[in-house]
Amino acid sequence: MNHEIEKIFVSTTFDDFLVRPQRGVVETRKEVDLTMPLSRNIQISLPLVAANMDTVTEGEMMKAMSLEGAFAFLHRNCPIEKQASMVGYVKRQHSFVIENPLKIHAEAAIAEAQSITESHKISGLLVETAPGSGALAGILSNRDMRNGTGFPSSKVKEFMTASDKLITGYPDIDMEEAEKIMRENKIEKLPLVHENGQIAGLITMKDLRMAQQKPYSSKDKKGKLLVGAAIGATGDYLERAYELIEAGVDCIAIDIAHGHSAVMETAVKNFRARFGGFELVCGNVATAEGAKFLLDLGVDGIKVGIGPGRGCRTRLETGFGVPQLQAVREAYLAVGDEIPIIADAGINYDKDIFLAVVCGASTIMSGGIFSGTDESPGQIMEDPSTGQKFKFYRGMTSPEAIIAGSFDENEILEKLSTPAEGQSKKVPYTGPVANILRRVRGHLQSAVSYSGEKTLADARAKIAREPMKYLVRLTRASRKESFER
Ligand code: XMP
Repeated sequence: MNHEIEKIFVSTTFDDFLVRPQRGVVETRKEVDLTMPLSRNIQISLPLVAANMDTVTEGEMMKAMSLEGAFAFLHRNCPIEKQASMVGYVKRQHSFVIENPLKIHAEAAIAEAQSITESHKISGLLVETAPGSGALAGILSNRDMRNGTGFPSSKVKEFMTASDKLITGYPDIDMEEAEKIMRENKIEKLPLVHENGQIAGLITMKDLRMAQQKPYSSKDKKGKLLVGAAIGATGDYLERAYELIEAGVDCIAIDIAHGHSAVMETAVKNFRARFGGFELVCGNVATAEGAKFLLDLGVDGIKVGIGPGRGCRTRLETGFGVPQLQAVREAYLAVGDEIPIIADAGINYDKDIFLAVVCGASTIMSGGIFSGTDESPGQIMEDPSTGQKFKFYRGMTSPEAIIAGSFDENEILEKLSTPAEGQSKKVPYTGPVANILRRVRGHLQSAVSYSGEKTLADARAKIAREPMKYLVRLTRASRKESFER
């Protein structure tokens, strides 16, 4: 690609532009598809990512974002075990595969099976050949148990459907195929078995339907919610990555303030040497050279943005940074469509998301727009004089975040000896994050319809190719007319 940035983007950010409306082609904006890549191998249906900040993303935010088709990265300002357990928590939600189904052995009494199903409120049990063998002998349904009610001491094996008469699936079966098999065979339960006959899991029609209620959720092949988590580039970062991967994380972000650096190069090389091609996003950078540097290191996604965030003081304290839309454009011209760009920080209005994407990003990351929600960590407070509800949002290098993430007094003193480039502020309480996501989805769909396309990816392809044709650079007066209300 041509690395030279177009003049129109020099020194610009979101409020410097409008987009020229194009002849619309969609009948209703609801049909507009917003799917974009988060990274080389992960697609999401709503191109929003909640930032890995300790006042933004823990388990509840991660779960809510993935359920609605978006994504998030868990922060790393905590012990490794806590971060890994947040991954595990999200991975246990809304799966269509029960990985450790309850079992009973074939020689057990029917009465025992009945008491297990009653106490766990389930409609049947997998039967194993002997206690703890894990080898599938059959299935015992509620109906089978009713047939055995008059014979409480009879053995399970006398009433179960034996494994040679069962339809089963293989361990990595995907949702579509499982549903097809279950529909074709009119069955409500599909045991999953390894080639050697060992039980690998169970799929029930009920769980499958639950999972299908939100078909746009961000899910892995097994129907579990996608989870991202951040690590650093020094210290225990490889150990942290190992534990996160063990816990089932789908994508790791090596997230440091200055991503175009020798420290990052060493970290990526070490990560690749230990974890091979595991999905890896890196940042932050704010220039074409920085983006190309990460591309050449072989990462799967790039985070772009130095200093535009609400909790950031980097530009104020050091004078470094690039206006965010220019940074996104530079990065895009450097890496093209080879790897996705996450435009990180500086999103104030929903239109900023559309602009970031059509100028070259694939998704945006924000802390600010998600920080006042029910799902962000931290208390909802009330201002006694106005009655207004608020939460606290802070940069990850703010003194408050440093204190929260430190082990003891000495660590705090040591870390605070470097001046902070982050700050803490009050943000209005905004309710459930799903409401914000619904609003943004609607606004992005509208924007795509104004662009004369049916999908966000098409709008991006068109505008990013010839931005001069579609963007209107604003003056002070036209900016006032557009945004001051
Ligand atoms: P918004 O605009 O949503 O930006 O507030 C969130 C992003 O801000 C970055 N971040 C920081 N930048 N000092 C900084 O200069 C900090 O302490 C800090 N904490 C977070 C980060 O990229 C995040 O995604």
